[in-house]
Amino acid sequence: MTQPTDIRRDRDRPLLLDLYSCAGGASRGYDWAGFDVEGVDIRPRPNYPFAFRQGDALTVLAELIDSGEIRRYAMAHASPPCQKGCALTVGTNTSRGWGGRHVDLVAPTRELLKASGLPYVIEQPNGKAIIRKDLSLCGEMFGLNVLRHRNFELGGWTAPRPAHPRHRGRVRGWRHGKFYDGPYVAAYGAGGGKATVPEMQQAMGIDWTDVREELTEAIPPAFTEWIGRAFLAEAASGQMAA
Ligand SMILES: C[S@@+](CC[C@H](N)C(=O)[O-])C[C@H]1O[C@@H](n2cnc3c(N)ncnc32)[C@H](O)[C@@H]1O
Repeated sequence: MTQPTDIRRDRDRPLLLDLYSCAGGASRGYDWAGFDVEGVDIRPRPNYPFAFRQGDALTVLAELIDSGEIRRYAMAHASPPCQKGCALTVGTNTSRGWGGRHVDLVAPTRELLKASGLPYVIEQPNGKAIIRKDLSLCGEMFGLNVLRHRNFELGGWTAPRPAHPRHRGRVRGWRHGKFYDGPYVAAYGAGGGKATVPEMQQAMGIDWTDVREELTEAIPPAFTEWIGRAFLAEAASGQMAA
């Protein structure tokens, strides 16, 4: 099996496996929460700021389970590509996207995560109910200038939901021939008044990549910081399901 590019870590911090890590929006939040993080992505991600393993997430996870190496980790997070059921791309998807054919990676990822015995998090955008919505987060919960609603299935543990304040206005951009101004930027796609790269970086709190595709794929680190802190609090309280 390929080894992570950098295996230096702080032995006092629990280790988190971030599958489908991209450039590490989710990973960064877990880092802020107090985890060491290792990422796995099928594409090279030179901007990823932690230990990184390039490979197919399902293959890497299966190998970690088979070898027993999975016991090094305290938790796993997975953000499988969402083309199959994603509301953001429904109607616009073609088979030419970076994800290629519409393969459902959520179900096999969940199956392997369950087999791993680790508490886990699966993240997906709003869309078809392909994951359980144990937790739903919005950028406004963290005072961000991006909404980025995301759902999370939590395996083997629970997390509280922060208060969801009323949105302060609209997402800026052109829709159906009309321009709407607003406090939030659209951190997906390009054109039509959507966010520039610096706007996406500022709105999501991501300053280590300026690659547009990596920013449009990322979740704001504030989301996983909340999740990571909730996990560590539940683990410390001894309430974690066996
Ligand atoms: C939605 S993005 C993840 C975003 C990430 N959670 C973040 O916050 O920055 C999905 C990622 O899955 C990767 N990917 C697609 N198929 C994969 C596979 N079979 N194994 C590993 N990574 C894969 C893509 O390259 C992409 O970076």
